Amino acid sequence: MSHTPIERDARVLQLYEQLIEIEQRLVPTGLHVFGRAAELQEKADLLRMVASFDRPEHGARSLPALVAEGLGVHSYDQLLHETPSSEMMELIDKIVKEAVALFCYKGGDAAANWLKQQAGVNAENSAPTFLLLTTIAAQLDINNEQESLLRSLRGEYITPGPGADIVQNPLVLPTGRNTHAVNPYSVPSHAAFERARNTADALLARYVDEHGRHPRALALVLWGLDNIKTQGEGVAQALWLLGVRPVRDALNRATDVEIIPLAELERPRIDVVMTVSGIFRDLFAPTMLLLDKAVRRVAALDEPLDQNYVRRNINDSLQRGDLHFDDAVTRVFSNAPGNYGTNVNFMVLDSQWETPETLGDLFMVRKSFAYTRDSRGRNVEGREARTLMDDALSRVEATYQNLDSFEVGITDVDHYFEYLGGISRAVESLTSARPAIYVSDSLSPQTKVRSLEETVRLETRTKMLNPKWYEGMLQHGFRGVAEIENHVANTFGWSATADAVDPWIYTEISKTYLLDPAMFERLMELNPYSTASLTKRLLEAHERGYWNPDEDVLERLREIVAFQEATK
Ligand code: BEZ
Ligand code: MG
Repeated sequence: MSHTPIERDARVLQLYEQLIEIEQRLVPTGLHVFGRAAELQEKADLLRMVASFDRPEHGARSLPALVAEGLGVHSYDQLLHETPSSEMMELIDKIVKEAVALFCYKGGDAAANWLKQQAGVNAENSAPTFLLLTTIAAQLDINNEQESLLRSLRGEYITPGPGADIVQNPLVLPTGRNTHAVNPYSVPSHAAFERARNTADALLARYVDEHGRHPRALALVLWGLDNIKTQGEGVAQALWLLGVRPVRDALNRATDVEIIPLAELERPRIDVVMTVSGIFRDLFAPTMLLLDKAVRRVAALDEPLDQNYVRRNINDSLQRGDLHFDDAVTRVFSNAPGNYGTNVNFMVLDSQWETPETLGDLFMVRKSFAYTRDSRGRNVEGREARTLMDDALSRVEATYQNLDSFEVGITDVDHYFEYLGGISRAVESLTSARPAIYVSDSLSPQTKVRSLEETVRLETRTKMLNPKWYEGMLQHGFRGVAEIENHVANTFGWSATADAVDPWIYTEISKTYLLDPAMFERLMELNPYSTASLTKRLLEAHERGYWNPDEDVLERLREIVAFQEATK
């Protein structure tokens, strides 16, 4: 294929931006060791991340924003959105990185002087940020985890603390406290709603960019812990997509919604089908009613059908004649009362399925219980409603989940593929078309929505194929190899549920861990069991058609397994 010089330059720039994205991603290295405080490098990484957000509650500005202003950049926000790879961004990052390193070694004054010298930032402007970092740094040095565990085993009182990661809320420190939830009536917070608008708009923009129109319906996964950490960002995204905002009563409880006029929304109201986890159901009962109320309100609006997809979809269902309004409007689903999880992860990891439809079906069997309040005001809490969920999902064109923390990505645990993968498989069975699958991470300063495939690639490159990541894991010996194996298994989970893994990913994993003799020997030495499981998983990926390696690669993998079996 020949390219014009302009096309070639554009492609080079695109590659450059991808490299920057990989380079800048904050990746936890190694595992947290219970009872051990953060080490210096980890501390510097965390502080830099904390310092990259404005903290109005502490009167502290983000360091990159201060540096940008000092260098005469008109709007840092705009810079973030427009040119993630500009030289200016690189310069800002370099100065901030150096400032945080100086802070760690020599303290706040040295760092403030550096900012003044390099970017003309006045010390009084950076002082509140360094004051906050000083407090956080001191708390990172404290570790009460062992002490608290012993106290809890003795049945003693453990001081409570909020649940979040330290980037979202530095008040979670010191660790070793009893995580408390939120008041469900406070969800979503004002700040969560504002952030959610950005994320949900970016999600819709991405879909429109790829499909030329808005999705008729979206399926969202909502988790409990995430909504605690973000004070309801996922909930707020659902409300914004529907085109409503939360309204607080006299006791400051979010118990109602207000319709955002179409003229202000400037787009159709999107139909959303919400699958909430068992933990969410237990923690956020009033929030589920709020979401249900929002859908019912929107469904009742006298608006053109091409501007109100909830109404349009419900009309379609009613016209088919087999559902009543109360049924057709049901959009909030979870497990049966007392049940948790989809079990899709267990079925995948135990290799106990034949066709992809089985995984989608298992998801539906577990998650199709309705939570709603009908038009006569009666509560329905966990009624089996497979037909209704089938109907609601039959118009879904995109599925979506928000990543809420840099600490846990889509291959770190099996829960992302069981939920987002599971629902995507269910949608595919019901619509005979694979939905567009998106993941956002609202944690980076610039809200970024990626396709699932892009996210799998980014995770693979920044974790499994990144020496910094695997060396961090290998320092933990036996457990570290088990973690590497988990990541391979979870990646496999994305093939099983969503066909979202490029074949080269399996090839590179094989090369990195098994075909490299020195690395293979290290793994075998540290943990032969996980090494064998990892090898078997790669072979299973081949057997199920997810990649097609060269014959000599296959032979080597089979040899490894055979050797393991023989020496058991
Ligand atoms: C939750 O917070 O809802 C959740 C956590 C882990 C797995 C699944 C759900
Ligand atoms: Mg678990």
